[in-house]
Amino acid sequence: MNHSYSRRHFLRTMSVGVTGAGFTARAGRRLVAFPGSDGEKPAILGGAPAKNTPFPSWPVIQENDEKGWMEVLRSKDWCRASGGHYATRFEETWAQTLGAKYCVATSCGTMALYASLNALGIGPGDEVILPPYTFVATLNVILMQHALPVFVDSDRESLQIDARKIESKITSRTRCIMPVHLGGNPVDLDVILPLAKKHNLPVLEDACQAHTGAWRNRRVSTLGDLGCFSFQASKNLNSGEGGAILTSDPALHEFCKSFQNQGRGTTEASFGYARQGANLRMTEFQAALLLQQLTRLEEQSHVREQNAAYLTGLLREIPGIAPARMYEGTTRNGYHLYMFRYDKNQFSGLPRARFLDALEKEGIPCAGGYTPLNKEPFLKATLQSRAYRELYAERDIAEWEERNPCPENDKLCEEAVWFFQEMLLGPRQDMDQIAEAIRKIQKHAGELLRA
Ligand SMILES: Cc1ncc(COP(=O)(O)O)c(C=O)c1O
Repeated sequence: MNHSYSRRHFLRTMSVGVTGAGFTARAGRRLVAFPGSDGEKPAILGGAPAKNTPFPSWPVIQENDEKGWMEVLRSKDWCRASGGHYATRFEETWAQTLGAKYCVATSCGTMALYASLNALGIGPGDEVILPPYTFVATLNVILMQHALPVFVDSDRESLQIDARKIESKITSRTRCIMPVHLGGNPVDLDVILPLAKKHNLPVLEDACQAHTGAWRNRRVSTLGDLGCFSFQASKNLNSGEGGAILTSDPALHEFCKSFQNQGRGTTEASFGYARQGANLRMTEFQAALLLQQLTRLEEQSHVREQNAAYLTGLLREIPGIAPARMYEGTTRNGYHLYMFRYDKNQFSGLPRARFLDALEKEGIPCAGGYTPLNKEPFLKATLQSRAYRELYAERDIAEWEERNPCPENDKLCEEAVWFFQEMLLGPRQDMDQIAEAIRKIQKHAGELLRA
């Protein structure tokens, strides 16, 4: 089974796991623990699963969501450009929540990043620094600008960009540093921000997975020049699709606001064009849902943080399991993902794929995370495309590969394991069951290897 991250795969796994065990998700169902099941056979070998009830489902839908949705429906103002006001309200609320001066809502996180790179004037011939361990959108938006992506290797301990390696990748063509707070875990901004200042480079924070992440008590997305969020279905703040740009710079704000509305000037519905743009507008339905989901974000985030801290305590006790390190300046981890590294040597050499299969059979959904983005065949094809060959010297393209090895990230992609944010929303007992499942697999790893 391919355990690289796929949300669809995860959802399928959840429902197969749940119905396969003969249970359906019912609110209020009491969790049943199997005392002493550490010693029992792993479920993949026919034993009882460590967890036989589902984790909380996502998204959470309550009456206020329905009310917000129906308000928009009945108002008939479904588009912000023709009378709607929910997108504007969401922008004001989200900016205030994070402590930024401005927010511009967009149709999705990819478009938030796209608008931001345009606002920074990134284009052909420019180099943009990014991590290799991220969702493909971070890379795609750089390629959309026909700029050159420059990968900085991962810090395997944190699963984030290795900030100490950024400076050696800066050249006279570098125009932007684009760190990603992957899984909600903030990057080392104590290194990145002064470095960007020293080289006079803007920082575009990809905070698409980090809705409540904070660095020294300031929310991520507000520390760089621009910060972007995604509100896609899996995210901790969710409207199916959606995105936002945060900035405190009036000129960047003005650009993004105009750009997402076909380059129009300040009057949203007018035909006064200030610049080239596109339609990246958030719908009123998305904004109304976000305003309602936002009422639960804090409470949910605290539950995730508490469960994650408890789980980390349990997993640290298991040889071969290394929960993602948080840098010293992290005052809050947004926990979109709970990430750790798996060392098969502590599990009798059991390959990660087999470990993941065994975990799923124990009733614990999981994934193996990303594959190395810097080695993507589509990326090489793009760099060989007509546009890139027109824009870059042959030598630039030829040398690109040797400039972009990420050996630490290659290892990381083979050892990472992810759990998903909704798994942290249940009772503490769920965390005990996760740890119990892993201990059980470890104890029987030799048998599993031979089976
Ligand atoms: C790190 C990162 N960047 C960008 C995006 C793109 O966001 P969207 O899917 O809303 O376009 C995502 C979404 O998953 C993401 O995880």
